[in-house]
Amino acid sequence: MDTPLRSKNILVLHGPNLNLLGEREPEVYGTMTLAALNALLRRRARTLGATLKIFQSNGEGQLIDLIHKHRHWAQGLIFNPGAYTHYSYALRDAVAASQIPTVETHLSDIKKREPFRRRSVITPVCLKMICGLGAGSYLKALELLAHRRT
Ligand code: DQA
Repeated sequence: MDTPLRSKNILVLHGPNLNLLGEREPEVYGTMTLAALNALLRRRARTLGATLKIFQSNGEGQLIDLIHKHRHWAQGLIFNPGAYTHYSYALRDAVAASQIPTVETHLSDIKKREPFRRRSVITPVCLKMICGLGAGSYLKALELLAHRRT
């Protein structure tokens, strides 16, 4: 039942400061490192028959370039834009321009944090936003994209 109809190419983009997962504000983001999170995603992708490419960048321009570069390869994008979530119209435009079906993910529940985090300029161009489940936010996004009929 877990196997999707067709195997999907899925791009995973982690934005700024997520390279420090595990040591960065563990009370907010947990103790799992980025390497451990990526290993979890790769394991789940294998059972779903999905092919993943995973990148982390602290740079807005680099994230835009990665979206552009993979726009014809990726059938899904799992995107945690970090703090860019709250103000980067350039990243929003890149997601919209790429036409990659995108699920925005956050480890923490951005709706219950400081007021500036409650607004996402990325959500309107995404299929869905999933937050507050830690690594589970990414796993849910992966399952949604892998099972999606296109
Ligand atoms: C985050 C939430 C953002 O507000 C923050 O700037 C991050 C991480 C999350 O995954 O919870 O860097 O995207």
